[in-house]
Amino acid sequence: MSDAARIQSERQSQRLVTAYIVSGMFFMLLPGTFLGVWNLLNISQAHLPSALPQAWLQAHGQAQIFGWIGSFILGIGFYSLTKMQSSRAFPSLAAWAAWVLWTLGVSLRWTTGIIHAYWRILLPLSGVLELAAFVLFYRSVRRHRTNSGNKPEAWMRLVGYSTIVFLLALTVNCWLLVGQALRGGSPALSHVPDQQFIVLAVWGVLVPTIWGFNARWLPIFAGLKQPDDWGLLSAYFLGLAGVAATFLSLLPIASVLFLAAAILSILALHVWEPAVNPPKLLNVHPSFAWFARLAYIWLLVSCALTLLAVRFDQSGGFWGASRHALTVGFVAGMVFTVGQRILPAFCGMRVLWSKKLMFWSLLLLFAGCALRVSFEPLAYENLWAPAWKVLPASAVLELLAVTLFALNISVTLLRPPAHLLVHLKPNLTSRGR
Ligand code: HEM
Repeated sequence: MSDAARIQSERQSQRLVTAYIVSGMFFMLLPGTFLGVWNLLNISQAHLPSALPQAWLQAHGQAQIFGWIGSFILGIGFYSLTKMQSSRAFPSLAAWAAWVLWTLGVSLRWTTGIIHAYWRILLPLSGVLELAAFVLFYRSVRRHRTNSGNKPEAWMRLVGYSTIVFLLALTVNCWLLVGQALRGGSPALSHVPDQQFIVLAVWGVLVPTIWGFNARWLPIFAGLKQPDDWGLLSAYFLGLAGVAATFLSLLPIASVLFLAAAILSILALHVWEPAVNPPKLLNVHPSFAWFARLAYIWLLVSCALTLLAVRFDQSGGFWGASRHALTVGFVAGMVFTVGQRILPAFCGMRVLWSKKLMFWSLLLLFAGCALRVSFEPLAYENLWAPAWKVLPASAVLELLAVTLFALNISVTLLRPPAHLLVHLKPNLTSRGR
């Protein structure tokens, strides 16, 4: 490919990844977090975990997992194609078609959960649109694979396997939604298949994708030792075994497998070992590595709470706390940490607007998550009534955190690229802000 074609390809992929990040942040803020906060405020006011329609809770979860994190994964995946040294041009048409189908599918899924209008048609249609978008993505990734003949590194294999499980998860999603439209009485899936599906999406896709990208980037950004490939892949397969055990309703076995997978991943990535190289912290807050390490504490807390949930949960308090330690503490925490390091560069070689906002978004997220995870079992399980009063505060802190993250990335994207910024106003980089 000529230099001009390469630059053209790079520009196209930057525009595309920006679209995915912007739509992902929209789903994170409004359909995801605002609805989550609204749900929690109502549950806390009624002192009743079942105070709201299931479809609302599911709409929130779908918006966060697929609308936010799913859009980020697709965007970063498409962007990475231009870095694969493939001779093929960037698949602009497929990538934009996938964005339209994905965004429409996720929006429809959320809207049918809230409004219920024409849900017997729109609910399965949302699943078909999401699946069609992902098939376009998957085909593009497969075509762009390099044929160097070398065995891919462990992080690539992990991201590749997670992509296949993502495809599987969307197929299962489609199948569940078609079944619901044919036989169900409302857009809400029944409790057990819904929860099993969430485990598939979180442990089968989100967690291993994060492990894969952590294996690639933490040695560079945090100076950690190179990962132990065998340990990382073993953690991945233990996690998958946990997902299989969940589908077989063997929850005690699943909970032990998830804990083992989490511990192995921490050892394999050397998360809590001292750095062996100077971290590359240009344009991010110096606390970067600490927040990345803290996120892994949330992973362990989530697994410990799953063990407790299997034994003691009566009203969803331990399950809810365990899920949010994982989704807010680990997944969102890692996206806030690593995302603010890489997204500005991917979206047009920009510089993060504010390091201080990065710090505050993470601090508030972890503070809100700590309150939520500690007090949800106490409140939901009727163990200590005053805990109901703390839950709204946790929701507000998390909402603030998410808003700061969105503000920081949005202003970053609105500012000129780094090279122009230096020419225009040398004192306007993120240094010190
Ligand atoms: C940021 C503030 C958030 C708030 C206030 C919030 C609130 C809630 C509430 C009240 C529920 C109902 C179940 C329960 O009470 O535990 C719930 C469920 C759920 N949340 Fe969140 N959430 C937040 C963030 C997130 C994030 C970041 C994710 C994923 C990345 C997420 C994924 C889910 C999922 C998957 C469910 C289960 C839905 C279902 O049962 O189908 N949440 N959330």
